[in-house]
Parts: sequence; C-alpha cells; structure tokens
Amino acid sequence: MNKWFIFNFLLLVLAVWQITERTQLPIIPIHIAFGAAGMFLFLFNWTRHAVFSTIRNTTNKQTKIKLANMSKKIVPYHRWIGTTALILISIHATLVINLFGPDFENMKLLSGLLAGAVLGAMVISGWLRLIWPSVTKRMVHIWLGITLFFLIAIHLIM
Ligand code: HEM
Ligand code: HEM
Repeated sequence: MNKWFIFNFLLLVLAVWQITERTQLPIIPIHIAFGAAGMFLFLFNWTRHAVFSTIRNTTNKQTKIKLANMSKKIVPYHRWIGTTALILISIHATLVINLFGPDFENMKLLSGLLAGAVLGAMVISGWLRLIWPSVTKRMVHIWLGITLFFLIAIHLIM
C-alpha cells in the first residue's frame, strides 16, 4: 500500500480528534462544519496522488487496470470537488473572522490563512493545467498538494 494512503488516513484521524476535542458532539458549530467539509473534499482529491503512485509502483497488472479505470471515472468530478473545497474554505474563513475578529496573533488563524492561500494556488494551478497542460504545471500541482497537506496538519495541531 502506498504511504500516502496511510498519511491521508492519519490526517483524517487528526481532524476527527480535533473536532471532537473542540466541540460538544453531536452539535458542530457551523464555522467548524465548513472547515471539516472543505478538508474532506481536499482529502478526496488528494487521494488521487496515492492512487497514481500505486499505479506507477505496483507490478500487479490487475491492480493497475482496476485503479486506472476507477481513476478515469472520477476525472470529470475532480475539478469541481477541488473548486468546491475552495468555496467551503472561504466560507469557513469568513465565518471564523466574523467570530474571532482579524486576530493575527492567533496561530490557528494564521496557519489557516496560509493553508487557504495554498489551496487557492492549488485550484488555480489545476485549472491552468487543464487548459494548457505542461510537465511543469503537473509538478507545481503535485508539490502544492504536498505543501497543503502539511499546512493543514499544522493548522489542525495549532
Ligand atoms: C485548507 C484550508 C483549511 C482547512 C482544511 C481548515 C480546516 C479546519 C478544521 C477541520 C477546523 C476544526 C478543527 C480544529 O479546530 O482544529 C478548523 C478550525 C479553525 N480554522 Fe480552519 N481550515 C482551513 C483554512 C482556514 C482559514 C483560511 C482560516 C482563517 C480565517 C482558518 C481559521 C480557523 C480557526 C480560527 C479555527 C478554530 C475555530 C474554533 O476554535 O472554533 N482556517 N479549520
Ligand atoms: C483540493 C484541490 C485539489 C487537489 C488536492 C488536487 C490533487 C490532484 C492530484 C493528486 C492529481 C494527480 C497528480 C498527478 O498527475 O500525478 C491531480 C491531477 C489533476 N488535477 Fe487536481 N487537485 C485539486 C484541484 C484541482 C482543480 C480545481 C482542477 C481544475 C481543473 C484540477 C485539475 C487537475 C487536472 C487537469 C489533473 C490531471 C488530469 C487527471 O488525471 O485528473 N485539480 N490533482
């Protein structure tokens, strides 16, 4: 199994743990619900990296074909899932700033803003990649994803 499947699962566990710590379940404040929904959509798209890496590295032909077919079915939704993640996170940020004010000493807020900016770049690089594909844009799209993964982890821990 590719290591990214495990990393993604750990990020999911971290998010669920932080949300249960910060809220009185089953009631989830709306600003956190938007953050969580955006995070799940990010993780859904990011799992593509784990799937592609597995396709590249596996020697089992059956697994390669199965994953490639599954991946093909998701292609048309990928762009809209990524764009929706950005919209949900923008609502999350707006609600949070309305609640706590623009407190730039709050590390949770700062780490969130950084993650939000990289998510914006991720979505832009995705659309550029779709319209004018190039190897550089592919690498930019993947490296922004890796950076974003760790920024979200930092945002959750803060
Ligand atoms: C990719 C971008 C982002 C993701 C995936 C995300 C996700 C989350 C999640 C799941 C939570 C609830 C769990 C926790 O408190 O650790 C949260 C909380 C929070 N986020 Fe974000 N967020 C993102 C961007 C932002 C941005 C842009 C801001 C800036 C305004 C922000 C500010 C906050 C704050 C202040 C909290 C704490 C809320 C509270 O304690 O009630 N986040 N975020
Ligand atoms: C949360 C946001 C996003 C994440 C985490 C994400 C992640 C990924 C990953 C991991 C891949 C596979 C990388 C590879 O080529 O090996 C990929 C491919 C791609 N992404 Fe994104 N992406 C996001 C948003 C978008 C958006 C908004 C678009 C807009 C069009 C987009 C367009 C593409 C295209 C065209 C490909 C290559 C074709 C394909 O195999 O689907 N991405 N993305």
